[in-house]
Amino acid sequence: MTPLVRIGILGTARIAKTVIPQIAASEHADVVAVGSRSLAKAQQFAGEFGIETAYGSYDALLTDANVDAVYIPLPPSMHCEWTIKAAAAGKHVLCEKPLAINAVQAQQMIEAAVRHEIVLLDAVMWYHTARAEVMRKIVLSGELGEVRQVTSAFTFPGNALADDNLRFSASLGGGSLLDVGWYCIGMSLWMLQQMPERVFATARWQNEIDLRMNGILWFPHNQMASFESGFDTIRRRWMEVAGTNAALVCDDFTKPWNAEKPRFWMHNADGTSDQNIVTHPPLERCLVDAFCQLVRSGNVHHDWLTLSLQTQQVCDALLKSARSGVVETLP
Ligand SMILES: NC(=O)c1ccc[n+]([C@@H]2O[C@H](COP(=O)([O-])OP(=O)(O)OC[C@H]3O[C@@H](n4cnc5c(N)ncnc54)[C@H](OP(=O)(O)O)[C@@H]3O)[C@@H](O)[C@H]2O)c1
Repeated sequence: MTPLVRIGILGTARIAKTVIPQIAASEHADVVAVGSRSLAKAQQFAGEFGIETAYGSYDALLTDANVDAVYIPLPPSMHCEWTIKAAAAGKHVLCEKPLAINAVQAQQMIEAAVRHEIVLLDAVMWYHTARAEVMRKIVLSGELGEVRQVTSAFTFPGNALADDNLRFSASLGGGSLLDVGWYCIGMSLWMLQQMPERVFATARWQNEIDLRMNGILWFPHNQMASFESGFDTIRRRWMEVAGTNAALVCDDFTKPWNAEKPRFWMHNADGTSDQNIVTHPPLERCLVDAFCQLVRSGNVHHDWLTLSLQTQQVCDALLKSARSGVVETLP
């Protein structure tokens, strides 16, 4: 039997509480350690989730020879530093999204991963589901005709969060674009398979973070994308890819509203629409299994890295545009 990928967790983040049970349920991985800024917190967390070893610092966890890989659900401003440290310690890295707070950092992280021959993957989950694969195949198959427009929105009401939540902190890498817009941008690039030439964005700012952003991306070959990210409307996570013959619509692309029935629709030219359901394991498990497969393959140059870096480059340009008020050109 192939040995399990032994994963250590950096920090006691909220998201880790939903990811850990799916690592435990995976046939390919196990959680073996947690590190926190506070030993007491690490011990309590370890007790709650049945984790063998608790450390009072992230550095201590990185010295553990029983840890093959780390999961980094730290605030975005810390992703770069801890990915580079983990890579230097020879650990594979599953890093939460956004990969970093800018493309310079993202590039440094990727270079460190390649240099130390470890797998780095950003933790966007939905890419690794069977539904995403089916939707992308349809878009690339020509079934929609010539694809012209990708539109998406990912928002939720931020008033349910505490004021000190990392999403509201500029210094921790908050803001709606990096938090949820990241999914819209990544999806648009993944579906269109190219980089935009120009982008424009406008935002509602609060304490130097974008509480809501609207943006437009212009691509070669008459393709465009637009998106909305935000912390000040109800929970929405929909996308549409429109072609000259049909449109593919998904009202919950990042996470199915009903986990039993992940769905999407084909809207046809005659006004009819067909619903499709593609079931898959929990998102977190799909991600963990994809990560373990990469670790096993030893493929440190995998394609997801390119998508993460390009997503970050587009986010940089959108933030620049939202601040300057002008259209930004990408290299
Ligand atoms: N993929 C997804 O579906 C998904 C969903 C939600 C969030 N996320 C991402 O996961 C990451 C964490 O988000 P979260 O909401 O789970 O965060 P969170 O609950 O606030 O946890 C962040 C953790 O980072 C550690 N930390 C270290 N320095 C910190 C500081 N100065 N301020 C706050 N925390 C600090 C803390 O652990 P210790 O105190 O134990 O060291 C804390 O528990 C973000 O990048 C977010 O975008 C991804």
